Amino acid sequence: MSTAQHKIGSGFGAHSTAGDVLSGIDLSGKLAIVTGGYSGLGLETTRALTQAGARVVVPARRPDTAREALQGLDGVEVDALDLGDLESVRAFAERFLDSGRTVDFVIDNAGIMACPETRVGPGWEAQFATNHLGHFALVNRLWPALEPGGARVVSVSSGGHHLSGIRWDDVHWQQAYDKWAAYGQAKTANVLFAVHLDRLAKGSGVRAFALHPGAILTPLQRHMAKEEMVDRGWIDEDGTPLNPEGFKTPQQGAATQVWAATSPQLAGLGGLYLEDCEVAEPAPADGAMRGVKDWAIDPEQAARLWTLSAELTGVNAFAV
Ligand SMILES: NC(=O)c1ccc[n+]([C@@H]2O[C@H](COP(=O)([O-])OP(=O)(O)OC[C@H]3O[C@@H](n4cnc5c(N)ncnc54)[C@H](OP(=O)(O)O)[C@@H]3O)[C@@H](O)[C@H]2O)c1
Repeated sequence: MSTAQHKIGSGFGAHSTAGDVLSGIDLSGKLAIVTGGYSGLGLETTRALTQAGARVVVPARRPDTAREALQGLDGVEVDALDLGDLESVRAFAERFLDSGRTVDFVIDNAGIMACPETRVGPGWEAQFATNHLGHFALVNRLWPALEPGGARVVSVSSGGHHLSGIRWDDVHWQQAYDKWAAYGQAKTANVLFAVHLDRLAKGSGVRAFALHPGAILTPLQRHMAKEEMVDRGWIDEDGTPLNPEGFKTPQQGAATQVWAATSPQLAGLGGLYLEDCEVAEPAPADGAMRGVKDWAIDPEQAARLWTLSAELTGVNAFAV
């Protein structure tokens, strides 16, 4: 298994913010695409990147809501994109390619978590389809626009990937749907995607990373009943966070993805899983949900998932 998963001494940590990791970095002239860049971590990512001078395209399932959330930020464009609809992905990518621009950072940030069993497209499980397949199709379609010799693709995964590897015999959960295991599978897929993309793209100087942003109270928890959050000790009966130290702020939560996209400390690296603005260590044997599981960085599983995803979406920028 990969031995590249070890700390590099970034000097940043769990409390670092997106602003901290961009301190002294000028992103003028750079262009980013941040899916879901108008809510939670995505909003803070867009804010930090634009404040450092980058232009940010925010593909949004709800463009009007996105425009409202992003009011007052300079250098932002909103466009329509539903990751659960491959036609919408194709149309967005085509509009971007038609603009003739190149992109320096693609941050695959949008996601859904622990939703009730939901089917999209041809009956696909919604978390796998939205969190993984939609981003797979998006990045493959955008490939001609990725700045050669410098672009990075950042796949926002989660420590939730510990909950499940890829369920190869039933990726769409036709049997025994479990909302948390399905989230875990989708988040494992986010890591495997970065592992294989990096392998395919690094010859062009394009690198890919995956990451866990930390635990942050955002609208991501919309599918959790209040009782579930109370049972987990996250909030009290009134909805007040019980253990604020256990959660990052959205600015801290956005830091690792911004670091992944822009940090010179990661030059020459790729295909890695990051957390707390550092390269993560392998998951410990005691079952604690930190570090990266072997199943998420296994190159053979990454290649297998790539092949499956290309078959399902009908898109593969690297087909020979
Ligand atoms: N918050 C955490 O503690 C945490 C922990 C680990 C990992 N993460 C990961 O971090 C990422 C960002 O999460 P967040 O906490 O910032 O959640 P959030 O505030 O709910 O933001 C998620 C974004 O994804 C968008 N989205 C959902 N379905 C979409 C679709 N079909 N097409 C296009 N966009 C879609 C949402 O758009 P709408 O608002 O229009 O639905 C929203 O803008 C996710 O990938 C999540 O898995 C978060």
